[in-house]
Amino acid sequence: MLGFGFTHAKSPTDKLIGLNISVFYPANYDARAHQPSFALFKEPKVLGQVPSNWKQRPDFYTKNGKTVAALPVPKGTSLYGTGETKGTLIRNGENITLWNTDNYKYSLAKGKRLYQSHPWVLGVNSDGSAFGVIADNTWKQQIDLSDSIRFISDGPAFRVIVIQRNSPQEVIKALANLIGKMEMPPLWSLGYQQCRFSYVPDTRIKNLADTFRLKNLPCDVIWMDIDYMEKFKIFTFDKVKIPDPKGVNDYLHLKGFHSIWMIDPGVKVEKDYPVYESGSAGDHWVQTADGKEFHGKVWPGPCAFPDFTMPATRTWWSGLYKDFMATGIDGVWNDMNEPSVFDGPDGTMPENNHHRGGGNLPAGPHLRYHNVYGMLMVKASREGILAVNPNKRPFVLSRSGFLGSNRFAATWTGDNCGTVEHMKMSIPMTLNLGLSGQAFSGPDVGGFTGITTPELFGQWIAMGAFFPFMRGHASNDVNNKEPWAFGPEIEKVSRTALNRRYRLLPYFYTLFNEASKTGIPVMRPVFFADPKDTMLRKEQQAFLIGNDLLVIPKWAVNPVLPSGIWRIASIAGENSTTDTYQSDVRVKGGAIIPLGKIIQNTTQYNLDSLTLLVSLDKNGKAAGTIYEDAGEGFQYKKGEYKTFDFAAQQVGSTVKVTVTPKTGLLKPTIRKYRVCVITDKGTTEGNWTTGNNISVILTDKD
Ligand code: GLC
Repeated sequence: MLGFGFTHAKSPTDKLIGLNISVFYPANYDARAHQPSFALFKEPKVLGQVPSNWKQRPDFYTKNGKTVAALPVPKGTSLYGTGETKGTLIRNGENITLWNTDNYKYSLAKGKRLYQSHPWVLGVNSDGSAFGVIADNTWKQQIDLSDSIRFISDGPAFRVIVIQRNSPQEVIKALANLIGKMEMPPLWSLGYQQCRFSYVPDTRIKNLADTFRLKNLPCDVIWMDIDYMEKFKIFTFDKVKIPDPKGVNDYLHLKGFHSIWMIDPGVKVEKDYPVYESGSAGDHWVQTADGKEFHGKVWPGPCAFPDFTMPATRTWWSGLYKDFMATGIDGVWNDMNEPSVFDGPDGTMPENNHHRGGGNLPAGPHLRYHNVYGMLMVKASREGILAVNPNKRPFVLSRSGFLGSNRFAATWTGDNCGTVEHMKMSIPMTLNLGLSGQAFSGPDVGGFTGITTPELFGQWIAMGAFFPFMRGHASNDVNNKEPWAFGPEIEKVSRTALNRRYRLLPYFYTLFNEASKTGIPVMRPVFFADPKDTMLRKEQQAFLIGNDLLVIPKWAVNPVLPSGIWRIASIAGENSTTDTYQSDVRVKGGAIIPLGKIIQNTTQYNLDSLTLLVSLDKNGKAAGTIYEDAGEGFQYKKGEYKTFDFAAQQVGSTVKVTVTPKTGLLKPTIRKYRVCVITDKGTTEGNWTTGNNISVILTDKD
C-alpha cells in the first residue's frame, strides 16, 4: 500500500476504470505533467468505454490562463469532502485554494487554505445516491463550489475521475480503492496523547508521565516538540535538556507510555552538522530556479530542504531514522512540511524552485510539487522507520498532506485556537477529512494557541474522547493544558472522558480495522445514518462513531438526529443526562457495542472480559462485532487476528446473546462476558459469565 502509480496513460481518452468509475481527459492532456499520480495508489486498469448514458461528464476549458474542469451539480445535491477546510460540513457555495499553507490560527486568507490539499468532492444527491470527483492534479488549484464543481488550476490541463454509486458510503469505498487505505495503526496510538511545545527538560517529561499515573488519568503517549533538539537541528538532542534520550524513552516505556518525537524537513545550514553535511554531499537539496541550493528560514534559522521528489533523497532521509529510532522512539511527528518557510513568499518556497525528480517522476517546479512535498516526506519517513523496526507498525503524524497521504500518515488540523468556535469547528473539519480518505485525524484538544479556560477544556476533552486521533496540545506561550491544569473539577471531567474512550477501545479498534479495509472513516457524519434523509445533511454538532454510536456534545443546540431508536448509554459509570460536560452517547437500536475495562494505557489492554452493551431494536434483536489482534506488528496480515459476531434476541423477559467466532486464525480466548441491556425503561446488567451463550433476565422496570 505504499506505492505511487508509476505508469503513464498511453491513450488519453475517456475510459471506464471501475464499477461506475470513469476517467475523463481534456484534449490537451499531457501525462508527463501529471503522472505518476500522487493521489492514486496505482494506475487503474482500463475496463472499457464510458457508457453512453453516463450522467456526469466534466467540461474542460481554459479561462484567464487557468485550466478548468467543471461539472454541473444536480439540484438538491449536498457537497462534502474537499479535505482539510475551515468552516461547515456542507461545502456547497465554498471556494477554497489547494496550496498547503502553514496557517497559524487559520487566520491567513480567512482560512480558505490550510495545511493540506484534497482535490476531491463528494456529492450526495437528493435521493441519497452519491457521486465523487477527483481532480488528479497536484498543481496549485482552487475548488470553486459556488454554483457547480469547478477545479481551477495554475498548472496544465488535468484528468478527472468520476465515481457514481448508490450511497455516499459506496462512493467513499470506491475512493479508498483508488487512493489506497490507511494501514492498521498500533493500538497505542488510539489512546490519549499529551503534547506541548515543549516538554523539556527530561525531568519535566518524567514528571508529566508520573502525574498521569498518580492521578489515574489514562494516557498512552508523550510528545516531544522541537525544544528537545539542539538549536532546532533535526536528528539531534540538546545535551543539557535531554542528555540521555534513550533514558527518557526507557522511563516512559517502563510507565506504560510510548514516545513521539518531532522531525521537521528544514535542515539547518551549518558546517559540521552531520545532517547538513551528508545532505550536501549527496546533493539532496531543493534548488532555486537557476539551480542553486535554496535556503529559507525556519526554526533553526537558514535551512536547506530535502528534495523528496528524488528517490536517492528519500532513501537518504529514510536512513537518518536509524540511529534516531534506536534511542527507543516509538513514533514520529513530521511538522512544518507544507513546507513552511518563514521568510519565503507566502510562507513557503518560491513557486519556481526546482525539483529534480527521478525514477518515473519528471523534474518540475515547486508549483507542481508543493502540495505533495509533505506526502513524499512522510512516505520516506515511514519507510525509514519501518526499516529500523520491521516488526512494528510505524506511526507518523503529518501536518501537511494530499489526497492519498492517508497511506503514510495520520494527521491533525494544525494550529487551532483555544476558542469555542474552533472547538465546534473541529467536528466538521475532522468529518470532511474522513470523507476525503483521511480516517485518522483530529484537532489539538483544548486548542493550541491562546488561553484555554477550564470550561472550554472540559467541554473539549469530553467531546475529543470520541475523535479518531486524541491529543492534547498547547503552544509555548500559553497556559498549561494538561487535564489537571484547570483544577479538580475539570480533572474529574477529564478522567471520566478518558475512561469512556478507553472502555470504548475495542469498538474503536474494530472501526480502525474497518477503515483500513474499506476506507469508511471511524468518525462519520450523522447523514450516514440515513443518506436519504435530507434533514440530516447539515448536521455538524452531533456525529457518529461507526454506525452504532451517536455522540452529541453537551453544547449542541437542537441537533438534527436520525430517526429510529438511539438510546443513551452510560459508558464508564457516568450519567450524561445530568452531567454538564460529558457528551450523550446514544446506541442505535439493534446494536451491540463491546466495551473493555477502564485501563490506564493500552499495555494493559486485555480482552479477557468484555461488557456487551445491547440496545435492542423494535423486534427485540441486536447484533455487533469485534476485531482483535496483537495491537502491534504485522502477524495479523498472516491471519493472526480474530473477529467475533454478537447476536442478541429477546424471548419474553430474557435476552439471549450468542457469541460466534468468525474469521481469523487467532485462538479464541476464553473470556468472561457481561451483558448490559439498555431498553427504553432502563438498564439491566447481567452477571459475568464464561461461554458463548449468555442470558439476562430483564428486571421488572424493563
Ligand atoms: C507548529 C506546529 C505545532 C508545534 C510548533 C512547534 O506550529 O503546528 O504543533 O507545536 O510548530 O514545533
